[in-house]
Parts: sequence; C-alpha cells; structure tokens
Amino acid sequence: MKLVSGKTTLWLAMTFLSVAVALGQGGATGGNAAGAAILQRACSGCHGADAIANHHFETADGYRDIVTTMIDAGAPVTPQELPVLVDYLFTTYGKKPAAGAAPPSKK
Ligand code: HEC
Repeated sequence: MKLVSGKTTLWLAMTFLSVAVALGQGGATGGNAAGAAILQRACSGCHGADAIANHHFETADGYRDIVTTMIDAGAPVTPQELPVLVDYLFTTYGKKPAAGAAPPSKK
C-alpha cells in the first residue's frame, strides 16, 4: 500500500478549497448554500425537506415560527444555524412583491 504523497495532499487541499470557493460564488450567496445544507440535514429526516416549500410568508418570522416548532419536535438545528436557515427559507420561499410592482403598502 502506497502512502499518499505530499503532492497529492496539496492537490486535494487545493481541490477542496476551490470547491468551497465555487459553492460560495455559485449564484446563491454563501449564506444560502449553508442554509440549504442545514435544511437538507435537519429537516429531511422526518418528512421531505420540501414540506416548507409551499409556505410563502411575507416576513421571516413565519419561517422562524415553523423552524422553532420543528426544533421542539426534534429537528437538530443549533441556535447559530437558526438565523441562517430562516434567512435561507425567507429568501428562497418568502413572498416577494412581483417584479416591477409597487411595494405592498404596510396596512
Ligand atoms: C423530529 C421530526 C421532524 C423534524 C426533524 C422536522 N419536522 Fe417538520 N414536521 C414534523 C411532523 C411530525 C409534522 C406534522 C405535524 C404538524 O403538522 O404539526 C411536521 C410538519 C412540518 C410542516 C408543515 C406544518 C404546517 O403548518 O403546514 C413544515 C412546513 C415543516 N414540518 C417544516 C420543517 C422544517 C423546516 C424542518 C427543519 C428545521 C423540519 N420540519 C424538521 C416532524 C419533523
């Protein structure tokens, strides 16, 4: 059995680094990529991660409420991950004013 050479180790390190950079840049923001990963990991254990996909709230609080309820039910989301996930859900599924339309009046 041959040990991994120093050159290979360096190559691997650089490969992982460029993947990390690509994930950070790939259309979504770095925060969104992290949020998507949390959603997959923490939410797909009991039901599809897309259970949330048909909820379109106008504020992030709607998502925070559901995620908090799911954490109580056992979803493994840390306090540090909560805002990342809520931000991801809101930017991905939240209700946005139609492009070009006037912003909705606040009551
Ligand atoms: C421990 C198991 C479990 C995990 C993990 C879990 N859920 Fe759930 N989820 C449930 C159960 C059980 C229900 C159905 C009970 C209910 O509707 O009150 C549900 C229902 C839902 C619903 C539908 C509720 C509604 O009001 O329509 C949404 C949306 C949802 N989960 C989102 C999530 C998200 C987002 C995560 C990750 C943060 C998550 N769930 C993780 C068990 C889980």
